[in-house]
Amino acid sequence: GHAAQALEPSAGRAPMAHQNLAQQRLLIKGGKVVNDDRSVVADVYVEDGVVRQVGPNLNPEPPTGLIVLDATNKLVIPGGIDTHTHMQFPFMGSRSKDDFYTGTKAAIAGGTTMIIDFAIPQKGCSLTEAFDTWKSWADPKVCCDYALHVAVTWWSNKVKEEMKSLVQNKGVNSFKMFMAYKDLYMVNDEELYAAFSCCKELGAVAQVHAENGELIAQGAKKMLAMGITGPEGHELCRPEEVEAEATQRAITIANAVNCPLFVVHVMSKSAARVISNARREGKVVYGEPIAASLGTDGTNYWNKDWAHAAAYVMGPPLRPDPSTPGFLMNLLANDDLSVTGTDNCTFDICQKALGKDDFTKIPNGVNGVEDRMSVIWEKGVYSGKMDENRFVAVTSTNAAKIFNLYPKKGRIAVGSDADIVIWDPKATRTISAKTHHQANNFNIFEGMVCHGVPVATISRGKVVYEGGAFNVTAGEGKYVSRPPFPPYVYKRVRQREQVCQPVPVKRAPYTDVVSAASITP
Ligand code: URP
Ligand code: ZN
Ligand code: ZN
Ligand code: ZN
Repeated sequence: GHAAQALEPSAGRAPMAHQNLAQQRLLIKGGKVVNDDRSVVADVYVEDGVVRQVGPNLNPEPPTGLIVLDATNKLVIPGGIDTHTHMQFPFMGSRSKDDFYTGTKAAIAGGTTMIIDFAIPQKGCSLTEAFDTWKSWADPKVCCDYALHVAVTWWSNKVKEEMKSLVQNKGVNSFKMFMAYKDLYMVNDEELYAAFSCCKELGAVAQVHAENGELIAQGAKKMLAMGITGPEGHELCRPEEVEAEATQRAITIANAVNCPLFVVHVMSKSAARVISNARREGKVVYGEPIAASLGTDGTNYWNKDWAHAAAYVMGPPLRPDPSTPGFLMNLLANDDLSVTGTDNCTFDICQKALGKDDFTKIPNGVNGVEDRMSVIWEKGVYSGKMDENRFVAVTSTNAAKIFNLYPKKGRIAVGSDADIVIWDPKATRTISAKTHHQANNFNIFEGMVCHGVPVATISRGKVVYEGGAFNVTAGEGKYVSRPPFPPYVYKRVRQREQVCQPVPVKRAPYTDVVSAASITP
């Protein structure tokens, strides 16, 4: 079995000392260690939360105080990194149900050991204050490591100064700009240009919510006037091209200032094609499909049961074209798309019901933080589209590289944090709101049978979840600082800066006649 065995004789040891030892030394035996570049059967030895040895037949001395996990016939993978969550997010007149405790607990049950959430200031408000507020919510509650992206929802010199200070003093290296949510978070092209320029100067990654907010506002009015008040109106007022247009515009603006761009929550084939084409043109752009867009589709908005349909409302919407999830998975397998998040932002049915007569008032957001790993294994690996190494790349390694956490996170190697999952690729589980660990009462993947189950989750060397049981307390996770200029992203950007600058043509000055006439209007 895979049960943890404490090998040390416990006689004479105080429970506290026993637990400390148990937390400090861990041996994972006989599994296949899977990184993004290769797989190898090896033992993994962990001390003080860090991987100390990877190799065959490890026998760490002394055996006293050593916890041994048997991973025979299992995969040993880096813990998942969810690049996109909104725990306890005050949004659209409500607050998302999963807080940093239930949300991160659900994460570890699903094999995710780090989340990156978003600190989002109101227009006119301080970015630093938003960061401090989100951090004060997260610190006492998190069950796994976390970091924070910060949103830029308005522009001024003060915002620019705060971005600099967040990068230099708070370990932030990514900023999200909203092209949608008019009057709430939306910024215009001039502000995007300024924010992208600033990111580029600071060595940060610019992120965009790519949807045309003006068209959404007009489209919503039109749908309501036509008597379409239900969740289907949410998709109808912001179809694929509304997402694709903004995606193209963001890429164009970012490229104009040589700023790397990360497109969050890629929801449509059209937007994914735009990103894919830009990468083929050599632009430094990354796309993040999410568990929802890879695992389900927008036909649910036409469900006859209002509560069912409303549960899928998120922005950008899921798409009614049922070939969307498979298409996005193909692009993820091919490296047209790079990483996976969830946009986990759960609202229960009563909260969704704020929009029972008007789809524009349904709080936007879906679940995913617990199920992402299994959904991607099922639809990506079990389906034959990607191998176990690509699975690791898109669930942790690429995120760690883009956000400068690598190889501390996203890799199992000597010196890396021991954020590790023992993964059973043969076992199956059926996703259900009845058994999930999230705080809301609906699961958008209800009934999906997934191959690929986390049997144990290890966070910084501690077995925090095993065989369905948790051993974790609120606040055990840590905030992880991310330095600027991730080399994976910025090496190309810097080289281009040096060699791709336009230069003036050298010519002799014009010496002939210059027109004397000047016509005044
Ligand atoms: O529906 C969504 N996506 N809710 C969270 C806010 C956002 O745009 O990411
Ligand atoms: Zn022990
Ligand atoms: Zn968004
Ligand atoms: Zn989001």
